[in-house]
Amino acid sequence: MAELAKLFENNRRWAEDNLRNDPGFFGRLAEQQTPKFLWIGCSDSRVPANHILGLKPGEVFVHRNVANLVVHTDMSCLSVIQFAVEVLKIEHIIICGHYGCGGVHAACGSRQFGLLDNWLRNIKDIYARHRAELDGIADLKNRVDRLCELNVMEQVRNACHTTIVQNAWLSGHPLSVHGLIYGLNDGLLRDLAVRVTNSDQLDTIYRLRVGAA
Ligand code: CO
Repeated sequence: MAELAKLFENNRRWAEDNLRNDPGFFGRLAEQQTPKFLWIGCSDSRVPANHILGLKPGEVFVHRNVANLVVHTDMSCLSVIQFAVEVLKIEHIIICGHYGCGGVHAACGSRQFGLLDNWLRNIKDIYARHRAELDGIADLKNRVDRLCELNVMEQVRNACHTTIVQNAWLSGHPLSVHGLIYGLNDGLLRDLAVRVTNSDQLDTIYRLRVGAA
């Protein structure tokens, strides 16, 4: 596989560098992982979780999809959240969007993309809920960027509405769900200040409790 030769070469150098700096590095990681954070971010190649956060392998559990969505029927994302919360006992879920997101941009338009349209539909629903504000932003780039922010806030709520997160709170497990957004232009994260730490912060219709009437 000539196309992958460069990647294997990179990988060998990376593994050697790690071993040179810390001979026990891979041995310890092979035994267990104890990440403190779950990162749910966009698949965009310019938004790599570990690099942005300055974290090494083993320090952040990662799920990425187009436009960093938490969809309540998405078994993949829900399974990641369950494993991260219930098994790894992570205490921080970070939903991170980014300005200039191609998925959010596509959701603002009418062009068909095929299967992907069903996924982007989730973002169109957010647009529809915030139509008054978004339609008032004349510049498309600024409108997309605002929808990128609104999308993160919505996904924070979606994560909190899962029984996984709510049961963690009910059991006394300290768990915070954060909404961040990343700037492709400057490489900086911004906190959207929508942190949720308990079910009191949720709309009552979404609050769930085992055995409740
Ligand atoms: Co994106």
